[in-house]
Amino acid sequence: KTLEYLILSRTGSTNPRSVALVQLNRPKALNALCDPLMAELNVVLKELDADPDVKAIVLTGSEKAFAAGADIKEMQAFSYDQVINRNFIANWADIAKIRKPVIAAVNGFALGGGCELAMTCDIIYAGENAKFAQPEIKLGTIAGAGGTQRLTRVVGKSKSMEMNLTGDFVGAKEAEQAGLVSKVFPVDKTLDEALKLADKIAQMSLPVIILAKEAVNKAYETTLTTGLDFERRSFHSTFGLADRTEGMTAFVNKRVAKFEDK
Ligand code: HXC
Repeated sequence: KTLEYLILSRTGSTNPRSVALVQLNRPKALNALCDPLMAELNVVLKELDADPDVKAIVLTGSEKAFAAGADIKEMQAFSYDQVINRNFIANWADIAKIRKPVIAAVNGFALGGGCELAMTCDIIYAGENAKFAQPEIKLGTIAGAGGTQRLTRVVGKSKSMEMNLTGDFVGAKEAEQAGLVSKVFPVDKTLDEALKLADKIAQMSLPVIILAKEAVNKAYETTLTTGLDFERRSFHSTFGLADRTEGMTAFVNKRVAKFEDK
């Protein structure tokens, strides 16, 4: 099946299919996230999530733009009844349900929905030219897919308010200091580093990767006591895995663990 808006490839040092690279490919519109692009992205991510070979996913754009936002030309003529009747952008939430880690490799613009898409991913690596913003207010609207919610949880109220109320760009270094981005690289290294990170994660046991991601995400969804209970139960559950036995046995025997995703 040919993809219209995405380029898909696989890599990985141990298993060459264990890391999936999904590249947004709508260069003329700076990867503006039109509805059919998001629909395609959802289908592809769900397929990768279900593929037992895949252990980590990297999502990237171009060196100029990760994504310049939702498609303004598509949205321009929408009326309230149209957006509510078709539940416009509801499918964006599906990306947060992917169980395998998704790493955003962000160069250039990550604006509006582009910033929100990056924040829906689990880890953000940024190039030195990355620019994050929630500029919806300049269009007479507000963020609709996490820009007031995920961003506030990540960078705190003051910076989130500043970004959501002005639309001003935040550069890569500032984004790193604020905790939005975990590392910054020269532009031509961002994707390589994200792929290396994905490959490092792909050396771990798949069920444990999934449990770890789920447990970290619980920290955003619930109280500390409930989250700690969930974490402890998940920790206990790893004792049912052969890979937990292998990991600890390998340590005790001073050798590298060889995980089999079971
Ligand atoms: C549709 C877009 C677009 C967008 C850029 N383009 N961003 N088309 N939707 N979000 C198109 C331009 O119209 C232009 O096409 C081409 O991409 C190149 O853009 P230029 O503006 O000519 O490039 P440049 O001068 O380099 O400026 C880059 C830019 C600017 C600073 C990123 O394009 C910009 O401000 N874009 C809009 C950013 C934004 O407001 N994003 C938030 C969208 S609202 P043509 O055919 O004219 O040459 C949003 C809501 C999310 O995301 C809600 C939940 C999902």
